[in-house]
Amino acid sequence: MNLRPQSLADYMGQQTVSEHLTIALDAAKKREERLDHVLLSGPPGLGKTTLAHIIALEMGSAVHTVAGPHIEKKADLAALLANLAPRDVLFIDEIHRMPRAIEEILYSAMEDSALCILAGQGMHARTLRIDLAPFTLIGATTRVGLLSAPLRDRFGMHFRLELYADDDLAQIVQRSAHLLALQLTDAAARALAMRARGTPRLANRLLHRIRDYITVRKSHIICLDQVDIEEALDFLRVDVCGLDRMDRQLLHTLIHVFRKRPVGLETLAAALGEDIATVQDVMEPYLLQTGMIVCTPRGREATEKAEEHLLLQKNNRSGA
Ligand SMILES: Nc1ncnc2c1ncn2[C@@H]1O[C@H](COP(=O)(O)OP(=O)(O)OP(=O)(O)O)[C@@H](O)[C@H]1O
Ligand SMILES: [Mg+2]
Repeated sequence: MNLRPQSLADYMGQQTVSEHLTIALDAAKKREERLDHVLLSGPPGLGKTTLAHIIALEMGSAVHTVAGPHIEKKADLAALLANLAPRDVLFIDEIHRMPRAIEEILYSAMEDSALCILAGQGMHARTLRIDLAPFTLIGATTRVGLLSAPLRDRFGMHFRLELYADDDLAQIVQRSAHLLALQLTDAAARALAMRARGTPRLANRLLHRIRDYITVRKSHIICLDQVDIEEALDFLRVDVCGLDRMDRQLLHTLIHVFRKRPVGLETLAAALGEDIATVQDVMEPYLLQTGMIVCTPRGREATEKAEEHLLLQKNNRSGA
């Protein structure tokens, strides 16, 4: 079952982004022009890919998708661009992972709808210009800081997606539950939202796992209540703050292994046996937002709140 919203109306939360995008889309449609280039940034699972497809659908345009690291040669990108029809969308996911030498092709394509290619060598070298159809480039990235300034500056719009508020996530959960033929009380949807770390992908993933649990353990339930959700989430080892086993391991490592001293990202990732990108992009944003860790120039540190949380979890387990 595809839970991805297909229209802006179904895209919950991210109020400011939706409002600005609606204006830009309406204006482009009214003028019968292409939409300006859009850069979408933010942590994983917040809806960048979803939004890219919604933009194309709202414009009534075809979308051509490619992942940044998969573009290996300038010629590959040039061929992609040359084949676009007027007002098509080219969606480059993980755009920060596109090789620098290749991205130069995009500069003239984005600014002048043209490809400028150097042909020949030495004295005989000359620049060939190929006109392109007016198109919209949508770039998505979890690491906007890694984008070169020339590329970043050529996007007419830059939307930073933020972690979702519990109310918005609860709405997303209700919509997904409806599509999965599950009934949730509002309190149940909220209980799930509160443990989904502000991330729709995680909320949907938890919903699927809860559905499995309920199907096996409680086949008679028609409408899930808060208690059912909490029971299933406890079984899944997702705690009241939405932290899973790995998050708690990270906090435990900072507090007990490194004894609350500041720790560098690489050292922390190595101690956890995780890759740096997972720690930085997936685990840290939520821990930072909830004030469980702080990032200082000297490294990461766990806060008192983290210490209290781990203690509470330990006591709960030993009390259970
Ligand atoms: N605003 C939203 N409203 C409803 N559902 C959403 C929303 N944003 C995301 N989702 C759901 O969350 C899932 C993950 O979203 P998506 O794949 O677009 O994230 P992403 O930002 O592209 O992540 P990544 O950085 O890992 O590529 C989608 O399949 C969709 O079902
Ligand atoms: Mg994506």
